[in-house]
Amino acid sequence: MRKTDISRRKKYDFLIIGSGIAGLSFALKVAGHGKVCVITKHKLDETTTAYAQGGISSVTYQPDDFEKHINDTLNAGAGLCNPEVVRKVVTEAPEQIKQLMAWGTRFDKTQDGKFDLHREGGHSEHRILHHKDNTGFEIQRALTKAVKSNPNIDVLEDHFAVELITQHHLGEIVNKWRRDIECYGTYVLNRKTNCVETILSKVTLMATGGVGAVYQTTTNPTFATGDGIAMVYRAKGMVENMEFIQFHPTSLYNPKERPSFLITEAMRGFGGILKRRDGQKFMHKYDERENLAPRDIVARAIDNEMKTTGDDFVYLDVTHKPAEEIKTHYPNIYQKCLSLGIDITKDMIPVVPAAHYACGGIKVDVNGRSTIGRLYAAGECSSSGLHGGNRLASNSLLEAVVFADAAAKDAIANISSYTFNDRVPEWNDEGTSITEEMVLITQSQKEIEQIMSYYVGIVRSNLRLKRAMDRLEILYHETESLFQRSTVSEELCELRNTIQVGYLIIKHAQQRRESRGLHFNLDYPKQLTL
Ligand code: FAD
Ligand code: SIN
Repeated sequence: MRKTDISRRKKYDFLIIGSGIAGLSFALKVAGHGKVCVITKHKLDETTTAYAQGGISSVTYQPDDFEKHINDTLNAGAGLCNPEVVRKVVTEAPEQIKQLMAWGTRFDKTQDGKFDLHREGGHSEHRILHHKDNTGFEIQRALTKAVKSNPNIDVLEDHFAVELITQHHLGEIVNKWRRDIECYGTYVLNRKTNCVETILSKVTLMATGGVGAVYQTTTNPTFATGDGIAMVYRAKGMVENMEFIQFHPTSLYNPKERPSFLITEAMRGFGGILKRRDGQKFMHKYDERENLAPRDIVARAIDNEMKTTGDDFVYLDVTHKPAEEIKTHYPNIYQKCLSLGIDITKDMIPVVPAAHYACGGIKVDVNGRSTIGRLYAAGECSSSGLHGGNRLASNSLLEAVVFADAAAKDAIANISSYTFNDRVPEWNDEGTSITEEMVLITQSQKEIEQIMSYYVGIVRSNLRLKRAMDRLEILYHETESLFQRSTVSEELCELRNTIQVGYLIIKHAQQRRESRGLHFNLDYPKQLTL
């Protein structure tokens, strides 16, 4: 049996799980109000944030205004957004952009010194601030640098959060937040020592990002396994809206590559046109906004065209745009495609939809508080009410930074009323002596990805969902039994988490007896658009 290491028990006022835009911006805001620790399962800058291409939305100049951004967000959200949250995020955007710049983020500007604004699907105006076609990389670079140079923030890389430490106070109102479950920190697998350590905290922020790795074809990095959502669900916190998985319409068709390389939606804002392999345009058949319709509509249209023609992909065509402009605005996409023999100034780009973003997640209130006391959540792992049934493009980096700010303010205001819970036991790994063969884990992981892609993808049906649930149940029992018997490993924890996230997606999809936003079920063919 592996021994737990009591001497390694650490205590922090603010514990942050995840080092993307949500986690690091929260860390920078609370630093100075107590001891801060960021844990992250790999390196500090290995995040989905670093993959973001298109940019971050914010109203800047006339003729754009807050009401237009609010309406675009509500329209995309298919009647399920929380209007109060939408207003908050949209109106706080300019302040948060200033903050990102103060931390060192550079956004592209035009020759007259104004922001060079892009436009993406569902946006009625040009309002996407960006840094070339690698905005997320630039934001991550700036935040990582700011965090590394802040002496108040400890960073623990290669630390994998396994489970939240919580206590259920039966029927008791434990604090003014009303929550009867409280979070006291987390058990963490130190990947270097292979020990499970206990980290105690007064306040914890879950910022573990998305769930794309649950699907076979995804733009998300393979570590996007929904760990935070699964941990909160196991701790009996509320998770909602998981049926709303957003498929990005245009990932590069290159079957051997995982994750799939994204072809930013900004390319359609730039004039890119979707075409079938026979060269025919098709978006006019589906929506009057054609190539700039919201993502759910474009992804379903592509899916339908591929099914009708039997083709494995459609094309995105920018060859009619000036070659120099393409290279200046989209240097990374240009280089990537060129490395595969596709010169996008002359050749059309083969594209397919790919799982991209989880609109649902850990339910939080306007202050970023989850339903578990002392536990906040922000970024893609959370469900704030901004996205509703379908996220508007480039609203996620924005949501992450606005809600990290709200959570930081609330946590700072409450931190003095908490103490550490020293009675927390060490991780118990009694009876877990075996290390399982990796093949059992990797094979189950592949099965989940297939189940989710075949039965719980862009188009669903009651029968497909039932089949997915039945198959997943077998994997669930096998994996739980494995988990009880085995020493903890990152691979096994991720497998367990993807199964739980898959279960939540299917369960929520079954509970929604209608087609709405990103959830399209053939048994309820009429798409509701409130
Ligand atoms: P992340 O950036 O994913 O960070 C999560 C962190 O949690 C990581 O550090 C990870 O290692 C850590 N972690 C996870 N589990 C554990 C664990 N068990 N223990 C310890 N650490 C853990 N959005 C936009 O608004 N605009 C865009 O242009 C845009 N482009 C995109 C392009 C691509 C290809 C992709 C995939 C997404 C894009 N998105 C975009 C979405 C956006 O990038 C993400 O929603 C956002 O970056 C999520 O930030 P986050 O801080 O919530 O999580
Ligand atoms: C993109 O650049 O198309 C991605 C934008 C987003 O996911 O918001």
